[in-house]
Amino acid sequence: MADDEPAPSEPYWTERPRSRSAPAERRFLYRGELLRFVVDAGVFSAQGLDPGTALLIENLRVDPADRILDLGCGWGAVGVAAARSAPKGHVVLTDVNRRAARLARQNLERNGAANAEVRVGAFFDPVPDGAFDVIVTNPPYRLGRESILAMLTAAPEHLRPGGRLLLVGKGSQGIRFYQRWLDDHWPGTVEVLGRGSGYRVLEARVGPDRPRKARPPSARRSA
Ligand SMILES: C[S@@+](CC[C@H](N)C(=O)[O-])C[C@H]1O[C@@H](n2cnc3c(N)ncnc32)[C@H](O)[C@@H]1O
Repeated sequence: MADDEPAPSEPYWTERPRSRSAPAERRFLYRGELLRFVVDAGVFSAQGLDPGTALLIENLRVDPADRILDLGCGWGAVGVAAARSAPKGHVVLTDVNRRAARLARQNLERNGAANAEVRVGAFFDPVPDGAFDVIVTNPPYRLGRESILAMLTAAPEHLRPGGRLLLVGKGSQGIRFYQRWLDDHWPGTVEVLGRGSGYRVLEARVGPDRPRKARPPSARRSA
């Protein structure tokens, strides 16, 4: 296949997408402000804001000076919104997909978000030293439960005491299973911040003591 031919089918978590580039503009209103984005083929939800992401953004509550991680940022919708809501803080956006990371950088710039940066890499690899107030993610469920649970298990190490994880998902992605898992491992801290179109936004908070060590992912079955 020639380099400029579209790949027949390419998952959105491809590190170096080969799909033919087809840049397009997308816009959405965030708390009364019109945000503008460039998107492209080969990244998640290039057709526009994903409904789960929209619900996550709607329920994004952060403090102005928070340090925030947008894990799996795609073209940057969540990270840009977070940067607007935390003007005195700092946002790190990460993704394995280099095309997504490039778009996210452009989109931070387009929206004047100077308090944010994009790093490339898997899960927490790009933020070994991170101590965040908030980790926000619409995670790559298609990688499978083991990967998502590994991410959830590692999350507390990257949060400050009292820090929060915000996670969106829908029934077919196993969100009820992840809610139960969080209830078990971050007991007494899990809240449903929002629901809509089959999606839920979950919040889990770390206390002064970290959640107890996770059981292996295979120990429980999905909803
Ligand atoms: C469901 S999409 C969400 C994208 C974006 N946050 C949004 O809501 O539009 C998940 C994102 O995670 C990225 N991803 C996949 N595997 C990853 C990994 N191991 N580490 C970090 N990001 C990953 C994908 O490339 C994709 O952009």
